Amino acid sequence: MTAHLRMSGLYWGLTALHMLGAPDALDREAVIEFVLSCLDSNGGFAAHPKHDPHVLYTLSAVQILFLCDALDRIDKDKTASFVLSLRREGGEFVGDKYGEVDTRFIYTAIQCLCILGKLDLINDTVDKTVKFLADCQNYDGGFGLTPGAESHAAQIFTVVAPLDILGRLDSIDGDAASHWLSERQLPEGGLNGRPEKLPDVCYSWWVLSPLAMLGHLNWIDGLKLRGFILSAQDDETGGLADRKGDEPDVFHTIFGLAGLSLLGYENLEPIDPTFCLPLALTKKLDWPGKSKRKPFST
Ligand SMILES: *[C@@H]1O[C@H](CO)[C@@H](O)[C@H](O)[C@H]1NC(C)=O
Ligand SMILES: [Zn+2]
Repeated sequence: MTAHLRMSGLYWGLTALHMLGAPDALDREAVIEFVLSCLDSNGGFAAHPKHDPHVLYTLSAVQILFLCDALDRIDKDKTASFVLSLRREGGEFVGDKYGEVDTRFIYTAIQCLCILGKLDLINDTVDKTVKFLADCQNYDGGFGLTPGAESHAAQIFTVVAPLDILGRLDSIDGDAASHWLSERQLPEGGLNGRPEKLPDVCYSWWVLSPLAMLGHLNWIDGLKLRGFILSAQDDETGGLADRKGDEPDVFHTIFGLAGLSLLGYENLEPIDPTFCLPLALTKKLDWPGKSKRKPFST
């Protein structure tokens, strides 16, 4: 049932373990072997052996190899050229050979190239990419999948993160976006992804990370959110669910922990809001926006 997202599941679990101070809890060599078993001859990665490669799983694979300090096990040029093959003339990216344009794929492509140290490969279209992302901002301050599409918190993350990597956050109205994000908090403390929706632990990440990148983490009530996230932890298994009483899963566990980490929770390794990787490791990377970063502690 989970084969179609196995690669991302491994990235979520491994990143959660890093935050919990147990980066060696999984067998490193077995993790690397699994990732390599999903490598396609075109340099892209699938979610599972014998599935088709996709940019989402290629990013997860690259993130896992980065966490394992094993990027030298792949041909980085080939993986970068798979990502580049998904670029369209306007600087947008599609997810795979059948795909549609979506800001998620721009974010995954740019982060992937950044970790591979190959961002220069998009120098010729970067201005068009920035314009496409900026054009996705709506009058309400939020962002949609494409220009004109309904605002959604996760889409704000997928626009703000690549602009932060590229050092181009000044091309959007960050205060308007932060204002829209700050309105996602409900009286019980949890955050929703759109107006009128239920609060959900995973939005702790999709809402907090762009607020952190934009320097406005204090525009929501961190203490109340912390209480909401902690209430979603399952007493028996230890995992986190979307909200109190529901079944826990690895997706809500990583994004709940990442939210707590951004809120400065004790005994959790600090997470990088742009990369969703441990801050101690992303320090080793280089990217155009690095020197422009705003402080993001609460
Ligand atoms: C790409 O752009 C960056 C930043 O402007 C510059 O430092 C770099 O030399 C460029 N690389 C290539 C291959 O043009
Ligand atoms: Zn959720």
